[in-house]
Amino acid sequence: MSTGVAQAPAVRRFHELPGPPRLPWLGNAWQIDAPRMHQQFEAWSKRYGPFYRLQLGRRDILVVADHSVIAAVLRDRPERFRRPLYSGRILAEMGFELGLFFANDETWRRQRRMVMAAFDPGHVRGYFPALATVARRLQGRWRQAARAGTPIDLQADLMRYTVDAIAGLAFGADVNTLESDEDVIQRHLNRIFPALYRRTLAVVRHWRYIRLPSDRALDASVREVKGAIDRFVAQAHARLQADPSLRSRPHNLLEAMIAAAEEGDSGLDDRDVAGNVLIMLLAGEDTTANTLAWTIHLLHRHPEALRRARDEVLREAPEPARWTPEQIGALDYVEACAHETMRLKPVAPLLPSQAIADTRVAGIEVPAETLITGLMRHDALDARHFPDPMAFRPERWLDAGTPGGTAGSAKRISMPFGAGPRICPGRYLALMEMKLALAMLLGSFEIESAETADGSEPRERLTFSMAPEGLRLRLRERAAAAADATVEPTPPTAVPPGLQAPGGDPNGASSAVASR
Ligand code: HEM
Repeated sequence: MSTGVAQAPAVRRFHELPGPPRLPWLGNAWQIDAPRMHQQFEAWSKRYGPFYRLQLGRRDILVVADHSVIAAVLRDRPERFRRPLYSGRILAEMGFELGLFFANDETWRRQRRMVMAAFDPGHVRGYFPALATVARRLQGRWRQAARAGTPIDLQADLMRYTVDAIAGLAFGADVNTLESDEDVIQRHLNRIFPALYRRTLAVVRHWRYIRLPSDRALDASVREVKGAIDRFVAQAHARLQADPSLRSRPHNLLEAMIAAAEEGDSGLDDRDVAGNVLIMLLAGEDTTANTLAWTIHLLHRHPEALRRARDEVLREAPEPARWTPEQIGALDYVEACAHETMRLKPVAPLLPSQAIADTRVAGIEVPAETLITGLMRHDALDARHFPDPMAFRPERWLDAGTPGGTAGSAKRISMPFGAGPRICPGRYLALMEMKLALAMLLGSFEIESAETADGSEPRERLTFSMAPEGLRLRLRERAAAAADATVEPTPPTAVPPGLQAPGGDPNGASSAVASR
């Protein structure tokens, strides 16, 4: 048995740990309410302590609330712990190549190098103009809503924003759902991603024996998306061949990944690239949209923080039409608002790893294959680490303004992007996307409300990431912004080849975006 991340001698065995009562075969599966699972896990940690045991079907789970143990496990990848195999197997069974998020071992190492090359800070700077254009399109959409006095379905519009931003960079093609309500990609992804989540949690794998109409529809969507990704990859190859300078100055993630895959003995090919196009969409859309939705809600609830963030935007980045990366980079307080939101509302509140062999975690002997699931906000809401922990105080994230600690130590406790060698490679891109959207919102509009219909606290709903339920945004144009407003012409958007709506209608209904 290896020593693993044990700091102390083995005092307990996994099977002796406390935990909620289990039924034979099902374990705790009968108690789990999937959309609120994270809150159930958090509540059980109050009852059973920082280390307890669960069983979901045949899966044994060690739940860990202590941030230092969680960080030690995350840092001990890929040698002792890996990404759990379940979701990757389901994705492969659907017919997709496995991208970085689900890869393990040597495949993960090779792909990680390629993906990190695509997120090189110099390249991300090159993506700035495309992201700023998408933020200005969101401004146009919200201006129309403000003038018409109509409420905005916040979650749905932010999904359009992140779809346009990330799909644009991952496909290397303009995907303008904000202006056209074009959502064909989303209609397919809205079948694929929820099915992946459902099947990962399923105790009975019925789809392997009985094919329902929904399973056949899923197969059709998988074929469409795979075919489209292959075509985008082929087009990017053609662009790189026509203009080799794109290898050092790529315009998007796809060109950057292909250039990195083609370098030396990377051991990667177009299948790895295609797998990672899908991963960018899966990992980069809901996470960023949900974090933005929570941030806007919390800013609306905290007028002093809102005022300070707006002052900063009007001082540093007042004109969306002339934004530069430096201006957006100077929005420290706005960024602190995002960090504070992620402390209170981390969109990945549960982060599982899987023991590769028998090991120890904080003195607990853990058998191979056990899931070690980190409760990511347990310590972030503890007064030992953050004074007045339930208060929304962005200042804590500014080095000079942190009472009782520094922003650096706060980042070691609240880990919304994970930690260690598999830390989120998209975090700087996500922060830039969020700061662009917030700068646009605060500079151009007054927020009349960002609440649920009855003003109650929005419920947290967990699928792949944790979203607020039912937030409606009402905006009023700021006087100065309204005077400046000109409808910015955007080039006509070609519907990406291969993603025409079934039946040839390129402009399908828009409701699917909201449903994820
Ligand atoms: C606010 C937005 C985001 C949050 C909160 C977030 C959070 C996370 C977390 C918690 C992980 C797991 C890290 C770990 O295992 O230690 C992760 C991994 C990952 N994220 Fe993000 N993410 C965000 C945005 C993005 C974006 C925009 C992209 C890409 C376009 C992205 C791409 C990835 C990928 C590829 C991985 C897998 C890394 C690996 O396994 O090596 N994420 N993210």
